[in-house]
Amino acid sequence: MKDLYQQAFTHATNFIKEANHQAIQVNENARENLQNLDFELPEQGVSATEVINELHQWVSPATMKMGSPRFFGFVIGGAYPVSVASNWLGTAWDQNTGLEKTTPGVAMLEKVSAKWMLKLLGLPEDSATAFVTGATVANFTALAAARNQVFSRAGWDVESDGLIGAPDVQIIISEESHPTVYKSLAMLGFGRNRVTKVPTDEQGRMDLKYFPDVAENSIIITQAGNINSGAFDPIGDICERVKGKNTWVHVDGAFGLWAMASTQYKHLGQGIEQADSWATDAHKWLNVPYDSGLAFVKNQHALKAAMAIKASYLPTEDAGRNPSDYTPELSRRARGIDVYAVLRHLGRQGVAELVERCCACAKRFADLFSEAGYEVLNEVILNQVVVCFGSEEKNLQIMDAVQKEGTCWVGQTIWKDRLAMRISVSNWQTDFAAVDESFAVIKNIAKSM
Ligand SMILES: Cc1ncc(COP(=O)(O)O)c(C=O)c1O
Repeated sequence: MKDLYQQAFTHATNFIKEANHQAIQVNENARENLQNLDFELPEQGVSATEVINELHQWVSPATMKMGSPRFFGFVIGGAYPVSVASNWLGTAWDQNTGLEKTTPGVAMLEKVSAKWMLKLLGLPEDSATAFVTGATVANFTALAAARNQVFSRAGWDVESDGLIGAPDVQIIISEESHPTVYKSLAMLGFGRNRVTKVPTDEQGRMDLKYFPDVAENSIIITQAGNINSGAFDPIGDICERVKGKNTWVHVDGAFGLWAMASTQYKHLGQGIEQADSWATDAHKWLNVPYDSGLAFVKNQHALKAAMAIKASYLPTEDAGRNPSDYTPELSRRARGIDVYAVLRHLGRQGVAELVERCCACAKRFADLFSEAGYEVLNEVILNQVVVCFGSEEKNLQIMDAVQKEGTCWVGQTIWKDRLAMRISVSNWQTDFAAVDESFAVIKNIAKSM
């Protein structure tokens, strides 16, 4: 075993060491070589070392260097070394993190990191926390709790009786909500289309001028961190507005919720603690390895009613905090290990510094683009920059050339009907030097077209 693990360790550390210095985008040759993995399952297997060597030979070169300090696509984040190492340890532990009684160590890590995060993000400290795969499932999980509470207050037991014949529930959502929120609504039986969409202002925030009258029995889905502009909906004002009715306010803060860890940025989420639930990703801005998302829910009874299972062979709650009482899965990976590791490593100041450095880098990008005469479409208040170089065709050509050149990686978006380049800064390694190097490449390519 030792040789095998040593081999894997050598490949992994070489990959990490070299990743920052190689072209970020996967080249055609590496893509074509993936065919070497595709054949009928042979009758006889090969040695474990051979498997690991094959994986490294064909898959490492075909792996986008998303952990690079110059990867600015989507909102990806990297992985702090401490969390890569904790992830390896967690894999060796191989814990099925459903029940406290059987996996006390990792259950404790989830309990403690949940407590730390609630405090760090300024959320009600007795909220329940679910460790899930990502913000998609975090939104789903929190909205399942919302569904439970809103229906239960309307006199309907949705967990037992389902949605057929249930009272009406109004879903209010921003016209710029993330598409995965619609998927959650569909999975919960609310449907993607039965929603009231609130128009947004020029920065992508729900515009309160157009906020509808709220019906009795409503779920309102807000956003902390617009995927293009980084802007926050006026969450505190919305919570005030819907008070006194049977409502639930949810916050999709896939990346933006981490701004609450910084005294410099937490004003963006003013009043956010008045909401009922919040979703975020640790694999984005906390920089733990994929996958890792979190749902926080103020009314833990609603979450448990939606998620907990009972079976004669499972320990009862007296055994402690059962992680599976809060998540869609019974069996799952111990995601709290890496969250704990990064929080323990960074402390409160370290998380704030990470957020602030990424935002400062985004601002630097915006200033450099503006000084060079390009149009920055958003007010850069967080970590997102949307920049436009002219016609759609020109933008597409520039982005394609930047991706092929390989120094950095940027994505495209269509925001407010304009096709543009979107830059997201959320990697623990990104600094001004990485920004300047990337900007120089983008500018040279843009000038040459
Ligand atoms: C605002 C927002 N919500 C939800 C998601 C979905 O997150 P995940 O891909 O981690 O499930 C994202 C991902 O980019 C996002 O930015």
